[in-house]
Amino acid sequence: MFLRNPKLIRNIYRNGLRCLTTQEIIAREDRFAADNYEPLPVALTKGKGVFVWDAEGKKYYDFLSAYSAVNQGHCHPKITEALKKQVDILTLTSRAFFTDALGEYAEFITKLFDYDKVLPINTGVEAGETACKLARKWGYLKKNIPNDQAKIVFAEGNYWGRTMAAISSSTDPTCRDRYGPFMPGFIVIPYDDEKVLEETLRNDPNICAFMVEPIQGEAGIVVPKPGYLKKVREICTKYNVLWIDDEVQTGLGRTGKLLAVHHENVRPDIVCLGKALSGGMMAISAVLADDEIMLCIKPGEHGSTYGGNPLACKVAIASLKTLIDEKMIENAEKLGKILVEDLKKLPKELVKEVRGKGMMTAIVIKETPTFTALDVCKKLKDNGLLAKNTHGYIIRLAPPLVINESQLKECTKILIDTMNSFLKLK
Ligand SMILES: Cc1ncc(COP(=O)(O)O)c(C=O)c1O
Repeated sequence: MFLRNPKLIRNIYRNGLRCLTTQEIIAREDRFAADNYEPLPVALTKGKGVFVWDAEGKKYYDFLSAYSAVNQGHCHPKITEALKKQVDILTLTSRAFFTDALGEYAEFITKLFDYDKVLPINTGVEAGETACKLARKWGYLKKNIPNDQAKIVFAEGNYWGRTMAAISSSTDPTCRDRYGPFMPGFIVIPYDDEKVLEETLRNDPNICAFMVEPIQGEAGIVVPKPGYLKKVREICTKYNVLWIDDEVQTGLGRTGKLLAVHHENVRPDIVCLGKALSGGMMAISAVLADDEIMLCIKPGEHGSTYGGNPLACKVAIASLKTLIDEKMIENAEKLGKILVEDLKKLPKELVKEVRGKGMMTAIVIKETPTFTALDVCKKLKDNGLLAKNTHGYIIRLAPPLVINESQLKECTKILIDTMNSFLKLK
């Protein structure tokens, strides 16, 4: 736990505007912000590209990218420029009125991803909620499921946020414990198991959708076997079930393609986007679908005050254009391969597996009583690289996609040297 030193906290206020030290920043946040996260003990005050700096000016490679929200790198000048420009023109009207920005954005994003329509919303979890509501409506209107009987299938290990619906589909006790009762009509099946998927859909005509991540992020970068997504497409089509593709984390270049499903050339019925849709500027998310599905929701049946606001629209256009124009997706594909290859030099005594696609990578360490993935992340921090563990034994590696080869090599060296330093503890 962090410092809870009242004297230190009083000092911060006595000194007015003085720049705070790392310890002071941590003490204040710990005192006044809710305890629902457990950050690494580093206090960041600045970011640019692949780097972030702490209060004392120490520079770090960012290997988390705000859980893949900062694919374009910190404070990308083209995205900040779009934001600064629009912020003085028009920021929020609500959807009670038309704006020039929403139409421009909607046309741009739907043409880019080849769907009829976009439903703009704010956070990743709201995109998931929207997709589930859309699927239920479609189930009643188009599949003739009896009212209040529609079911949605999810995969074990899924993560799509923290709302009541999202945790209702979760299999992670930390997400669920003492938050019940849960949302009815949710079925959970094993991930990467097309046989169980087919059996489940065959046996229940009231299923309206299967929602799945093409690579499970929070579960620890779990990559399904090749061909799984193709099978998902075939099975969902066969049983007239919508496939909801949650690309909030995998999308927008992270895996070396615009969408992770493009690795298997398949087209889901509904796509959820978020995170890097704003390049880290603000909460922007989106749901994409064709008219047959999207028009099931009628005026007044779903919405959000901030969804599709002009500022978000301009930022999202700039974020998408930047990803594409600056070839970040290609960079992720190329450097991702180099990263995985170079990480083969990690000590075999400690590392069980390196897995991932593009720049969505994880080191799985062997379970040992002497240290955890969190201990490794703390050591990596001391050595100038910020990465975050997921579960006790997985270290997620997701740098901004603007990283270049020589920076990547430097990071690989930090990773290998740091892991080697744990050899003597084994
Ligand atoms: C696959 C996936 N979907 C949805 C979400 C939720 O996004 P947000 O935290 O913006 O609500 C996340 C967040 O990590 C995610 O990884």
